[in-house]
Formats: sequence, C-alpha cells, structure tokens
Amino acid sequence: MKNLLVTGGAGFIGSNFVRYMLGKYSDIYVVVFDKLTYAGNLDNLEDVSQDPRYKFVRGDIANRDAVARVLASNEIDTVVNFAAESHVDRSILNPDAFIQTDVVGVYVLLDESRKHGVERFLQVSTDEVYGSIPEGYFKEGDPLEPNSPYAASKAGGELMVRAYHVTYGLNTVVTRGSNTFGPYQYPEKLLPLFITNAIDDEPLPLYGDGMQVRDWLYVDDHCSGIDLVLQKGEPGEVYNLGGGNERHNIDVIRQMLAILGKPESLIRHVEDRPGHDRRYALDNTRIRRLGWRFGQSFEEALERTVRWYVENEWWWRKIKSGEYRRYYEAQYGRRLRGASQQD
Ligand code: NAD
Ligand code: TYD
Repeated sequence: MKNLLVTGGAGFIGSNFVRYMLGKYSDIYVVVFDKLTYAGNLDNLEDVSQDPRYKFVRGDIANRDAVARVLASNEIDTVVNFAAESHVDRSILNPDAFIQTDVVGVYVLLDESRKHGVERFLQVSTDEVYGSIPEGYFKEGDPLEPNSPYAASKAGGELMVRAYHVTYGLNTVVTRGSNTFGPYQYPEKLLPLFITNAIDDEPLPLYGDGMQVRDWLYVDDHCSGIDLVLQKGEPGEVYNLGGGNERHNIDVIRQMLAILGKPESLIRHVEDRPGHDRRYALDNTRIRRLGWRFGQSFEEALERTVRWYVENEWWWRKIKSGEYRRYYEAQYGRRLRGASQQD
C-alpha cells in the first residue's frame, strides 16, 4: 500500500481514519475523494491539510469519469470506501440518494478500481445489514435482513463487492462496524446530537422507550480495525467490528448527562422511528483472531468524546444552522411537540 484513496474521507469516520493512517505510516500518500454532501466537511481534515502526503479531490463516487481520473492521476493501488449516505432517519424521509451513492456509487467505484488495476479494495459496511437480533450475536455468515432503506442500500453495495471478488477476482475485503462515536461526528446521530443539545439545555428526543440496544465502538478502534483488515484480511472475506459495549440507549444518555452535569429532565420520549431495529450485537471472533485490541474502555471513550464537543463548539455550532435546522424541524418538530418528559 503506497497510494491510498479514501472515499468519503471528509466525513466522520473517514476523516479520523485519514488522521490515523498519516500518524501511523510515514511512507503513505493519501488522497481523499469526497462529494462534500451536507455531511462532508473540510474542517474535519483541517489539521492534516498542510501535510505533503495528503491531497483532497472533490468528486462523486457515482461519477465514472471523475473516479477514473482520480485513480489514474494518483496511481492509486488501494481504495477504502467510506463514502455513503449514512443516516437511517434521512433514508426514511428520502431514500433516493442512498440508492445512488450506497449502491450505484459502490458499483462504479468497483468497476473503475478493477479497470485501473487496484490491488486492494476495502468496503466499509455496517452491522445494520444483518437486521435486528433479540439475543445472541451475528456472525459473518448469517443472512442479511436489512430493515431500513439505509441498511438495504449498504447491503446492496456490499453484495456488489462480493460479486466483483468472485467474478472478476478483485482483491476485496468488507468490514461491518457497529455504532461508532467520537470527535467530528455530524450532530444528527444519537451521541453528537444529544451532547450538543444538552450543552444548550435543549430537549433530547429519545425514540420510543429508549430500551433499544446498540453496540458502541469508539472511532479510533473502528479505524484500527479497518487498518488491520486492510493489512491482514483474507481476500473476499467479511469482518465484524463490534465494540463489545452493548448498552440501552437510555443508559448511554444518562451516562452522557452525568458527565456533562445536566439533568435527565432534558430527555423527551418521542414517537419511535418506523421499523426501528431493537438490538444489534456482533460476534468479533474473526477479527480478534487477526489481533484486534481496543484502545480504551467505553467509559473513557465516552468521557473523551463529551469533552471534545464541549471544547470544540467552533466545529459544531456552524453546522447546526441552515440546512440542519430544516432537517431538524422535519424530523423532530412534530415529535417534540407531542413528546412526554422523562420522570
Ligand atoms: P458521514 O455521513 O459522516 O460521512 C460520509 C461522507 O461521504 C461525507 O464526507 C460525504 O460528503 C461523503 N459522500 C456522500 N456521498 C458521496 C458520494 N456520492 N461520493 C463521494 N463522497 C460522498 O458517515 P460516517 O458516519 O463517517 O460513515 C462512514 C462509513 O462508515 C459509511 O459507509 C457508513 O455506512 C459506515 N458506518 C458508519 C457507522 C457509524 O456509526 N457512523 C457504523 C458502521 C459503518
Ligand atoms: P443513530 O445514531 O441514528 O444510529 P443507528 O440508527 O445507525 O443505530 O441511532 C442510535 C440509536 O439511538 C438508535 O436506536 C436510534 C436512537 N435515536 C434516538 O432515540 N433519538 C434520536 O434522535 C436519534 C438520532 C437516534
């Protein structure tokens, strides 16, 4: 791996991954290729922007010419694809962009990678492709039963990755990460939304009873898992990356409020998300065999994350305006007006 293309590198996990890779490897050249949708943000990469081993190119993974150009002109040998529409609630409001990027875009990226002799292709996928599991843990061979348009589009992209490996021999690997949190996460996902609302004493719109379970993974651990699979994963294989931290949403939020010193009375139980998956949980045996280890406990990572949002208002305040306010009203306006307060 010398010339690495990180698609979607201006988003949350992608930008953390770029920082991680530039910090870990000296002889690497990283090209970020990103459409800069509402979720893409060059502020996320500000601290690496002067690094001579880094370059940014604006473009769409579904645009064949643009993809061909960035692969050829930078002699790319390795592709890590983070580019996606990534938020379940937005996929329920309007699935179009999800099919376009998460299915068609992945296909175009695979096809051009094959034509340009890319030596390794890693697709960043999600535990949501499995659907919900009431007890036990999903293994990589389990059937895919996605329930939201987001999860279904990610599953579609992933199956195309499989086809390109089996049919054309492209050297692919897939990671299925669990719910990730940390610095630079767009404040539409549970933790950054609730942390930034709580800082401003705004209500926290918790869906339904708040007893849904997610398996939380700190972003640095997600990045180290992706790097490990990139280096050591078997071609054609899929790897679960679960944080091993199953928590009820309500408990995570209570813990976050305690760290901030804010009252639980900010919590509002609002109308549930349609088709809301009750529980996600992953079996990590396969990635553990490659030697994956976590850098910190969930508690440490949550504290660090809360502190980051407290100390980096410059980053999130400018996001929480304009388009964001319109989305917030569409998603939460009616819900919050009909909400009940936590006792
Ligand atoms: P994000 O929404 O923060 O970032 C997505 C990035 O992709 C943005 O920079 C956006 O501009 C870019 N993008 C969108 N459409 C594009 C296109 N057509 N062409 C080029 N760039 C485009 O997402 P994230 O949370 O960082 O997630 C990154 C990846 O990890 C996604 O593939 C997601 O499915 C997967 N994932 C996320 C989580 C999580 O908890 N956040 C967990 C598991 C897997
Ligand atoms: P989210 O961060 O959207 O990730 P995902 O849907 O990929 O798991 O949501 C995490 C959990 O938090 C999920 O069970 C939905 C819940 N949630 C709320 O209760 N309220 C909210 O406003 C959001 C965004 C999420």
